[in-house]
Amino acid sequence: MYFVIVYATMRNLSKGEALVEAAGRTLGRTLEIKQLDVCDENSIKECVDSLPERRVDILISNAGMGMIGPIECQSIDEMKTVMDTNFFGLVRLLKEVLPDMKRRKKGHIVVISSVMGIQGILFNDVYAASKFAVEGFCESLAVQALRFNLNISLIEPGPVITEFERKVYEEGLKTDLSKADKVTADMFTNIYLKNYKQIFETLGQSSEDVAEHTHKIITMDNPPFRHQTNTLYTPMTTLKYADPNGDLPIDTFYKMVFEHDKVFNASLNFLKLLRWRSRKSFTMEKDKSN
Ligand SMILES: NC(=O)c1ccc[n+]([C@@H]2O[C@H](COP(=O)([O-])OP(=O)(O)OC[C@H]3O[C@@H](n4cnc5c(N)ncnc54)[C@H](OP(=O)(O)O)[C@@H]3O)[C@@H](O)[C@H]2O)c1
Repeated sequence: MYFVIVYATMRNLSKGEALVEAAGRTLGRTLEIKQLDVCDENSIKECVDSLPERRVDILISNAGMGMIGPIECQSIDEMKTVMDTNFFGLVRLLKEVLPDMKRRKKGHIVVISSVMGIQGILFNDVYAASKFAVEGFCESLAVQALRFNLNISLIEPGPVITEFERKVYEEGLKTDLSKADKVTADMFTNIYLKNYKQIFETLGQSSEDVAEHTHKIITMDNPPFRHQTNTLYTPMTTLKYADPNGDLPIDTFYKMVFEHDKVFNASLNFLKLLRWRSRKSFTMEKDKSN
């Protein structure tokens, strides 16, 4: 029997109402909320210094932000903010936590990456680059970590229905497309944005589902280095591993978007139906067991 304390961190504590409500009786007992901004080294240090013996057995790095659109319409500063949060945020956390873990020869670093850390997606160029950076960083570090008996796990969700989806879509709608040529602007508006919501509705998981996957990973004796949470998405990432030249996923995505868009939409509708049916049978199974 062991006693676990969860330190849930957020950069803006005034946004903590929902977390406090969800925490219920655990607040102040097994769960504490602390301020931490992954873009601010001092706030990370202050947070870690405030923990008993600065001890972190399991670090879950989750903070992240999205960005969509043609690169002609995005400033370098906006791109840097994405890299600073998604990639350097993780680097800052590890610079603070890894030396202690190495000394104790104990620890598990769990990083919420994305399927876009494996495969780039149309108009997600900078976001995918930030997650590729995360994956390359962790893959390199994992070998060294093993020497200290530490584990690193990358959780790779596909679309998840959270605030992220809404924020990214709303920012996407506001994009000033005047710097993009007509073909690119049309592709972004009439193909990408048009299908965005349907892709989330069809393939999207809930955050609770991803949390359950994460819980499974942190309680395993031998956690895997990579874990995808969405089986509906796995066939698409498998294309990447199937062709060392890298052409297969690019050709497939191209055909899906530009040549077989009707088949693509029909497949999404079919998947939606399958998910609805499997949810229904899952609910019925649960009802039967009551
Ligand atoms: N949603 C998806 O489709 C999806 C798919 C694959 C992977 N992911 C990854 O999953 C992770 C969680 O995303 P989500 O979907 O839960 O999105 P979300 O609802 O937007 O949550 C992201 C969280 O990160 C926090 N954050 C942003 N910058 C921060 C900073 N500098 N310091 C500390 N916290 C910061 C945000 O805080 P504020 O509220 O203060 O902004 C927000 O609470 C991200 O790494 C994302 O890349 C998401």
